[in-house]
Amino acid sequence: MSKKLFIKTYGCQMNVYDSARMADVLAPLGYTPAEGPEDADMVVLNTCHIREKAEEKVFSELGRLKPLKIEREKAGGRMILAVAGCVAQAEGAEILSRAPFVDLVLGPQTYHRLPEMVARVTRAAGAVLDTEFPAEAKFDFLPETTSSKGVSAFLSIQEGCDKFCTFCVVPYTRGAEFSRPAQSVLAEARRLVAAGVRELTLLGQNVNAYHGASPEGGEWGLGRLIRALAEVPDLARIRYMTSHPLDVDEALISAHREVPQLMPFLHLPVQSGSDRVLEAMNRRHRADDFRRLIERFRAARPDIAFSSDFIVGFPGETDEDFEATMALCREVGFAQAFSFKYSPRPGTPAAGFPRQIAEAVQSERLDRLQELLTSQQRAFNEACIGRELPVLFERRGRHEGQLVGRSPYLQGVHVTAPADGLGRIRQVRIQRVDRNSLGGELVS
Ligand code: 5AD
Ligand code: SF4
Repeated sequence: MSKKLFIKTYGCQMNVYDSARMADVLAPLGYTPAEGPEDADMVVLNTCHIREKAEEKVFSELGRLKPLKIEREKAGGRMILAVAGCVAQAEGAEILSRAPFVDLVLGPQTYHRLPEMVARVTRAAGAVLDTEFPAEAKFDFLPETTSSKGVSAFLSIQEGCDKFCTFCVVPYTRGAEFSRPAQSVLAEARRLVAAGVRELTLLGQNVNAYHGASPEGGEWGLGRLIRALAEVPDLARIRYMTSHPLDVDEALISAHREVPQLMPFLHLPVQSGSDRVLEAMNRRHRADDFRRLIERFRAARPDIAFSSDFIVGFPGETDEDFEATMALCREVGFAQAFSFKYSPRPGTPAAGFPRQIAEAVQSERLDRLQELLTSQQRAFNEACIGRELPVLFERRGRHEGQLVGRSPYLQGVHVTAPADGLGRIRQVRIQRVDRNSLGGELVS
């Protein structure tokens, strides 16, 4: 019997990947995608716990879903409501008490058990809570990727984190660091490429801590894995995220020098430019270490561009600390970046630190930092005008005869081009910067 499934995804790319895998495990039970929650027999909220705002969104979405579910039951039907992801992992019991109409709460390591949990829910009354931490099992038991993935796909190679930055919930919600064996990554990559994928983004909370079992015995790091992936025919582009500066090694830097498929664009969160704050965050490197890393990447690959994450208003951050962050940004020059006000997360060390920063101060610092980062992004985009960039076309544009693709720097690029360009890389001369993308013409 055909049933409809609606998954709403919050947060990081890992969640986007996990949502696709949840759809894969539920497909054999007859679940096909729904347009929206209104016509769904099962709704999954795949949640994010990283900052407080992300968590609140989940509870307000649950509030909106409740009447839909009640209505359905009045009409004699049923809507299974599941909360997955990191809020489920961290706040499982809280969800069931604040939102008792939720049927299923499941942590990120339990998705392979989803069919069994759905079966239990359909039989039994009362909600099911499954947020255990058997890390390794998940990759082994999820089915092979099935659905067609388009031109660009994510491939999860590593999960969890052992770094314990003092602000971060990930080590608690995603558990200990675990790397998937290289063989199974390569096999999934080949399957995806056979299905038409041309660009892979390797995912992991701490992706460059990757140390998967190698096909020859021993372990491979990320640099070695990338070299092996570069041998998969027709795989044109490789990316990875998210990295930690501490785990960058020479093998990874030389992969950037020598593997042409590896894109010259790197998301490398630094969080702060102040050594004092970096230490309080337990980042385990100094601002100068980050500067040196940037130099090494640039020496290996002169056209590389960087993206980063920043937290402002971390407990104890002084004006001087914040100015050090601004100075680091000015020196490095980011093509793109994400910046956030520090948000205390229950159970993390920094939530209990003295000298929490007033909201007004946080806002003022965030505004200043974002103004700087936005101007750097604009400058980077404008510097692309007149350049020829290889663009991988992913889909048709809104206008007739238009294709949309991505530059090596993940910029969206709109071009008038024949439809047979889809899935291909073409040289494009960049002519203009639009609001969130670039425009250009094919180089004949
Ligand atoms: N408060 C603010 N930002 C946070 N991040 C992670 N935890 C917090 C927090 N408690 C940010 C970091 C991280 C990104 C994914 O989210 O910058 O790199
Ligand atoms: Fe969180 Fe730090 Fe691990 Fe990144 S490295 S996931 S910020 S604990």
